[in-house]
Amino acid sequence: MAPAIFVFDAYGTLFDVHAAVRRHAEAVGPDADRLSAHWRAKQLEYSWVRSMMGRYRDFWSLTEEALDHAFLTFPQADSSMKPALLEAYRRLDCYPEVPKALKRLKEEGKELAILSNGSPEMLASAVTAAGLGGLFDAVLSVDELRIYKTDERAYELVTTRFRVYPEAVSFQSSNRWDIAGATAFGFRTVWINRAGAADEYHDLAPAAVLPSLEGLTRL
Ligand code: LAC
Repeated sequence: MAPAIFVFDAYGTLFDVHAAVRRHAEAVGPDADRLSAHWRAKQLEYSWVRSMMGRYRDFWSLTEEALDHAFLTFPQADSSMKPALLEAYRRLDCYPEVPKALKRLKEEGKELAILSNGSPEMLASAVTAAGLGGLFDAVLSVDELRIYKTDERAYELVTTRFRVYPEAVSFQSSNRWDIAGATAFGFRTVWINRAGAADEYHDLAPAAVLPSLEGLTRL
């Protein structure tokens, strides 16, 4: 049976995490791209390490700490841009195909949701800024649990909210580690491999791989 509920990871899947630095690339300087990659990598590392230690701090705080570390790592980058970059992160662009792909699923009668590590305020702000307000039946944040994906309790937020078994859910993420976690939980998973990355976590393979959200309705 085709899944009735389509759940999306937020950062990197719906919202372009590199859009913040890109918007201010000239002011940040020649290390802008590397700074952006480091910012994202540290933000994720902090979430996993803190989750394992049971020392939760919300994703917005981790985002800020990760940016501080990125500026220390790339001292040529202009750190006075920190407030502007954080502001831009609250209002990231979504990828170009996202609105149309979501609307098409909605027209087919699917329920749509976000499941993200992001804190509720940053998610609400990103959804509104990207013009996606009103498309989601639920925007679920791990914040209420104070643990991060890939803990199975994070994915369970979906099955609890919609009162379904995991098999009723199609879960989309561009993060291969997130796909591994969601597959382990029992969701049908679709890896949105935007970056053309090499596969990993072979024992926890997605049901499908797509380069973008386009084509999701044809699976
Ligand atoms: C999220 C990040 C981890 O939205 O991409 O959950």
